[in-house]
Amino acid sequence: MRAVVAGATGYLGGFVVRAFAEAGWKVRALARNPDGCASIRPFCDEIFRGEATVPDTLHGLFRQADVCFSSIGIRHVHRHPTFWQVDCQANLNLVEAALRAGAPRFVFVSVFRGDELRSEIRLAEARERVADRIRASKMKWIILRPSGFFNDMEEFFRMARSGKVWLPGDGSARLNPVHGADIASHLLSLMAGGGWNRDYAVGGPDVFSLRQIGDMAFHSLRKEPRYGYIPGWVMKSAGVVCRPFNANASALLQAFALLASRDGVAPPTGDHRLKDFFAKLAQGLPPPSG
Ligand SMILES: NC(=O)c1ccc[n+]([C@@H]2O[C@H](COP(=O)([O-])OP(=O)(O)OC[C@H]3O[C@@H](n4cnc5c(N)ncnc54)[C@H](OP(=O)(O)O)[C@@H]3O)[C@@H](O)[C@H]2O)c1
Repeated sequence: MRAVVAGATGYLGGFVVRAFAEAGWKVRALARNPDGCASIRPFCDEIFRGEATVPDTLHGLFRQADVCFSSIGIRHVHRHPTFWQVDCQANLNLVEAALRAGAPRFVFVSVFRGDELRSEIRLAEARERVADRIRASKMKWIILRPSGFFNDMEEFFRMARSGKVWLPGDGSARLNPVHGADIASHLLSLMAGGGWNRDYAVGGPDVFSLRQIGDMAFHSLRKEPRYGYIPGWVMKSAGVVCRPFNANASALLQAFALLASRDGVAPPTGDHRLKDFFAKLAQGLPPPSG
């Protein structure tokens, strides 16, 4: 079996590459810059150089693919490229290329409650348009909707190290962050169990409030917790103000404003603990491998 992984150079995609390879699959990873693929190279049969934003560079990517996977997306607030160009259009380019190549299955990573929140959160809408296209195609599909990843929780750790953690809202909103390796092994069991043509919300084993995550980050650094609070309405208003100048920053602020006001607890999977992840960060060990 051959899997094609787009997003392989990122946090989740890296774990998916490893999980497929360890299950005995051949893995072809898409990369913009193969020089930056040292950590996944041992698990890949082939590194395919291409730009998901440029359809002409994708010819041959999905040749003889049994399963296609994409977690491509942006997590920065630079003005270019926008999330519409990457989270939406680049992923649509991949889906069209997979269809042209006759690929039979596609796994796509959206966001937790993306289907419910798409009218309120532009980042969710961008990814849900891709999910719509995949569902309407003749391929079999799985849409994953994870809650926050451990790598996103690293931001709490960075703020704690600098002395003060800024919390959205009053810090009481709850979520269950999930490790990339746990999502990857969950995906493999879904595929092995024939769980195609369904959406799956995925969270980690422990539910925390945002403030508890901050406490854990401070604790791992043996520092006294110190917090600032950013009201949801402030983030929402800032998002509206910066929308004409910076679509990415605006969309992120919009998403954070919602995070401040609602719990995001997904069905649990896996056994990686956020406490251990922070402990490794505090020891200066490489974080993504957990
Ligand atoms: N992080 C979370 O908490 C979370 C929670 C739920 C859902 N998700 C979804 O999962 C996705 C993946 O998350 P992640 O943490 O694995 O992200 P990540 O580590 O930032 O990886 C993103 C991937 O997208 C690629 N990419 C970024 N900009 C690109 C561009 N302009 N052209 C082509 N490829 C580009 C990156 O390639 P390069 O290495 O070449 O930049 C990388 O392979 C997110 O975008 C989000 O929609 C995330």
